Amino acid sequence: MRGEWRGLARIVSRFSGRRVAVAGDLVLDRYWYGAVQRMSREAPVPVVRLEETKLMGGCAANTVLNLKALGAEVIPVGIAGRDREGDALVSIFEKEGIDSSFIVRAKGWVTPTKTRLLAGSAHAPRQQLVRVDSGEGNLFTPPVAGDARRALAKAVKGAQALIISDYGYGLAEAAEAACQAGKVGVSALDSRFGLKRFHGLTTATPNEEEFEEAAGAAQGGGPFEKAGESLREEMSLGALLVTRGSKGMCLFERKKRPLCIPIVGSDQAVDVTGAGDTVISAYVLALCAGATFEEAANIANVAGGIVVERHGPATTSQPELKARIEAWGKGRL
Ligand SMILES: Nc1ncnc2c1ncn2[C@@H]1O[C@H](COP(=O)(O)OP(=O)(O)OP(=O)(O)O)[C@@H](O)[C@H]1O
Ligand SMILES: [Mg+2]
Repeated sequence: MRGEWRGLARIVSRFSGRRVAVAGDLVLDRYWYGAVQRMSREAPVPVVRLEETKLMGGCAANTVLNLKALGAEVIPVGIAGRDREGDALVSIFEKEGIDSSFIVRAKGWVTPTKTRLLAGSAHAPRQQLVRVDSGEGNLFTPPVAGDARRALAKAVKGAQALIISDYGYGLAEAAEAACQAGKVGVSALDSRFGLKRFHGLTTATPNEEEFEEAAGAAQGGGPFEKAGESLREEMSLGALLVTRGSKGMCLFERKKRPLCIPIVGSDQAVDVTGAGDTVISAYVLALCAGATFEEAANIANVAGGIVVERHGPATTSQPELKARIEAWGKGRL
């Protein structure tokens, strides 16, 4: 593939304006940065002075932002609460020019949020002290599930692709996302739990752990390559792309030998959080632009290698991705 880098770069140029719906678990990532003042007298804990707050889209919201950064027209479908965190998510999207009208703002819903406190001092760099999660116990009442289902049915009209970004908060099931998948050209699944609940999609991009959880129970288990092929077959996927962190990724396609590709760039990743969201975004846009599964996987692999160099969930752009493909093609990476 390296030798064909010009063709891959041309595919990336065709990402612009592709209409992609994302049905998934919208999460807010909140970072509190501060400075340690002294030890508290109330408990053996530091007292931290808050200096800065950063709000970012997490889980499905990170996939949405990755698609947008790569030039797609993206339609997020999901649930957000009528709380400050829900408002924050919508305003992150609106700032990027993303249509948030298919997001159901449900009464009583706690917008899932992951809050990290990072603190340092004059003599020590900031480090994470604690993470606090909220919004895991939301109930999909029939009215909420109905609203989500209707929003999704509308959103997929005119969309070229649907990405199901299932982080276990329940939307994927409630929205019957898989039923809508047949109505788009490309349907792709990224699911933290229970991959095998979905059938007949174009493709799926589990990481190694998610793959092993599903493939362990797939008929034919056994060696990695055999297990991949048998899971692809069992889920009736056109292709299965297993991402393997610093070991790169493996593609299983119907009637083809498994293809494993190494990472591009340094294996000294700064932060791998959200790399899978970047991978599925670039991969699906490439498929929408007419790439083969192999071409799409190679493009996505380069994109994944870019974002792991940055802190927190990150995105990349067409110019950056094309430059990186060129550098890789010319053997500079
Ligand atoms: N250390 C690394 N160096 C270079 N590239 C990496 C590294 N880790 C991951 N990648 C790239 O990112 C891709 C996806 O990574 P990974 O398999 O960790 O996804 P993931 O576990 O789904 O991530 P997340 O769920 O946090 O988004 C890999 O297939 C590879 O292309
Ligand atoms: Mg993942």
